[in-house]
Amino acid sequence: MNLQERYENLKSKVVERREEFLSLMDFVEKETAYLTAPASTKFHLCHEGGLLEHSVNVAETLLKLKETLAPEISDESCVIVALLHDLGKAGVPNNPQYIKLEPSEKQKAYGLKPNLPYKFNSDMVYLSVPIRSLYLIGGKISLTEEETQAIVYHDGQYVEDNRSVAMKEEKLTLLLQCADLWSCRVIEK
Ligand SMILES: [Fe+2]
Repeated sequence: MNLQERYENLKSKVVERREEFLSLMDFVEKETAYLTAPASTKFHLCHEGGLLEHSVNVAETLLKLKETLAPEISDESCVIVALLHDLGKAGVPNNPQYIKLEPSEKQKAYGLKPNLPYKFNSDMVYLSVPIRSLYLIGGKISLTEEETQAIVYHDGQYVEDNRSVAMKEEKLTLLLQCADLWSCRVIEK
């Protein structure tokens, strides 16, 4: 399956909140840079469509983990938190978080690429990625408390802000943290 087919296959696993979810994803796909944004400026998947590829990798990994470790968690919850955990990286409508860099005149003359593929957009209101994800979700779909915790604290103890969740993580949060890290560090290496 190509990336688009994998993405559509994942979306089809959301059944109970299907209408809300598809309407949210329609907004996300049409109004934000979700489908075209990279996953980072210079690290993993720093190319067009990288954010979508990462989100799909995380969702597929999370489904595998939960099948083995916590089959009581629904596929729907896994797909929702995985596809939306890094949504904030898309930025907001008309203001993407990552800006594609063009080669300088000199680089153009030699047919070279710019030094970095993307730069961070500094002209944005500061919100951490997970908080911007929640801002964009904005009540368009009803999240459970567990899903909300998983999205907000998906970076785990790598991020100072997340100290408060230590030892209070729900299963979904632990599995999403692991799927995210596994995707970045192993699949997307
Ligand atoms: Fe991620």
